[in-house]
Amino acid sequence: MSRHFAIVPAAGSGSRMGAERPKQYLMLAGKPLLWHALATLCAVTRIEQVCVVLSPEDEWWAAFDWILPGDKLRVLRVGGATRAESVTNALQRLEGEVRADDWMLVHDAARACLDVAQVDALIDTLAEDEIGGLLAQPVADTLKRANVDVRVAATISREAMWQAQTPQMFRHGLLLRALTMAQGVTDEAGAVEALGLAPRLVAADATNFKVTYPQDLALAEIILRARGKT
Ligand code: C5P
Repeated sequence: MSRHFAIVPAAGSGSRMGAERPKQYLMLAGKPLLWHALATLCAVTRIEQVCVVLSPEDEWWAAFDWILPGDKLRVLRVGGATRAESVTNALQRLEGEVRADDWMLVHDAARACLDVAQVDALIDTLAEDEIGGLLAQPVADTLKRANVDVRVAATISREAMWQAQTPQMFRHGLLLRALTMAQGVTDEAGAVEALGLAPRLVAADATNFKVTYPQDLALAEIILRARGKT
């Protein structure tokens, strides 16, 4: 039986937030932003270990309390220059401890409103899958491509378009091979696609959005409070 491990890259600077500290340490509903995704992943029964990937220079982590259910949390100070590098370094660190067919669920630190049911749905759907896949949401809005003057250059059909979210779930051996070979990918699925494979899309909802801009914090707080999580 394959086991499940979570990897949460949290070594970014979150520059689009324009804040005085890295985005993952901004306060959200009384906790650092990063705490919420870690708490959800630790609460997923089938996940054995939750590895958070920090920058080796991170000076914020120690300032907070990270007591989470299940004693599953593990800190890997192996963050790299890009998200792909941070994940690759974590996968290399886990080599020898995990099997090539163990599942890795890679989740953005900034998707704070992930809930256990969505992770369970991903694990259930992909249990027998040859390749793996990701949470994603069918695009509802009409899409426009902008020109340099910020005017509409084209309208793009939204048919069959999905917005990629995380967790993205692939087996350790495949994911490490894919990320080692891929150039310039912004998610794990992109690396797997570059091998000519087609990851499965598992429908999620808009609450699993990535906190990116300052106004996103208020929305995330409303969602967490509505769930009674704060
Ligand atoms: O910047 P963005 O929000 O796309 O980053 C996605 C995730 O990757 C975040 O959780 C961020 O902390 C992480 N990341 C990382 N190492 C980097 C850059 C981003 O772990 N060098």
